[in-house]
Amino acid sequence: MNRILVIGGTGTVGRQVVAQLAATGAQVRALVRNPGAAHLQSQVEVVRGDLTLPDTLDACLHGIDAVFLVWTAPAAAVAPGLERITKHARRIVYLSAPLKTAHPLFQQPNALRAMFEQIERSIETSGVQWTFLRPGMFAANALSWWAPQIRAGDFVRWPYLAAPTAPIDERDIAAVAVRALCEDGHAGAEYVMTGPQSLSQLEQVATIGRVIGRSLRIEEISPDEARRELLTIGPLPAVNMLLRAWAAAIGQPAHVTSTVAEITGAPPKTFLEWATDSAAEFQT
Ligand SMILES: NC(=O)c1ccc[n+]([C@@H]2O[C@H](COP(=O)([O-])OP(=O)(O)OC[C@H]3O[C@@H](n4cnc5c(N)ncnc54)[C@H](OP(=O)(O)O)[C@@H]3O)[C@@H](O)[C@H]2O)c1
Repeated sequence: MNRILVIGGTGTVGRQVVAQLAATGAQVRALVRNPGAAHLQSQVEVVRGDLTLPDTLDACLHGIDAVFLVWTAPAAAVAPGLERITKHARRIVYLSAPLKTAHPLFQQPNALRAMFEQIERSIETSGVQWTFLRPGMFAANALSWWAPQIRAGDFVRWPYLAAPTAPIDERDIAAVAVRALCEDGHAGAEYVMTGPQSLSQLEQVATIGRVIGRSLRIEEISPDEARRELLTIGPLPAVNMLLRAWAAAIGQPAHVTSTVAEITGAPPKTFLEWATDSAAEFQT
């Protein structure tokens, strides 16, 4: 599986997958909508493609063994897009979510669930080798959730501060993806993966404050205030999905797995490590 196409290679996880694959010496191609803005490693072949324009996909997939797939395109494009991807690839590693994990954080009504399930069904029934990655909350969500407030001042206003999650570093998701793309033995696996610790949202913001040496004033806001104020982080259905998930998660520790260490042989990075490495993003 030496010729690998990364779809979503300019995003949070895909960019790390591209970088880690390139470091192994694999032949990496990245399908991107705007090659001029991709800024990927020089040895990576960058090709123009768009998941919503299925006719652009065949050339991108030509000669490819394995695909790393991130799908954030509209649901209407799933059927024609997956038809092309599964026709060309022998192996697909798909970045999904913990759809089957019984923890309440992951089991709230979610407008995206049907699309995830459709993608998984298309892959499962196609006959390709597949691996589904099921990470919990990304540590990198802090960049869109809290960094704008922290860059603007010392106040962070946020709902459900007591809600715990186990934030996972995007580099650890990528490390598991690289193993699944390059090694045998991961076919049919569904890897539920998390960071190493259950931390409340309050503890996560406080960790960022400690790392950047500022005493942040963290104030809890009501779900209704959050619905009005958090539209900067996504459309209302996404905000409502998060509010429901955090509300349901309160009162019990986050779901923590040992998948990253089992697959990569290295412990998953802590939120403190992630925040330390990302400190510049929280400073003006
Ligand atoms: N955030 C979390 O806590 C969390 C937890 C579990 C699972 N997930 C899942 O993880 C996935 C998101 O991963 P991420 O954060 O790494 O993604 P991301 O940073 O939002 O990046 C999305 C990538 O997809 C590309 N893309 C979007 N539309 C495209 C199209 N029409 N054609 C081709 N490429 C397109 C983007 O390219 P451009 O540069 O062209 O925009 C970008 O490279 C989602 O499926 C989400 O549900 C997230």
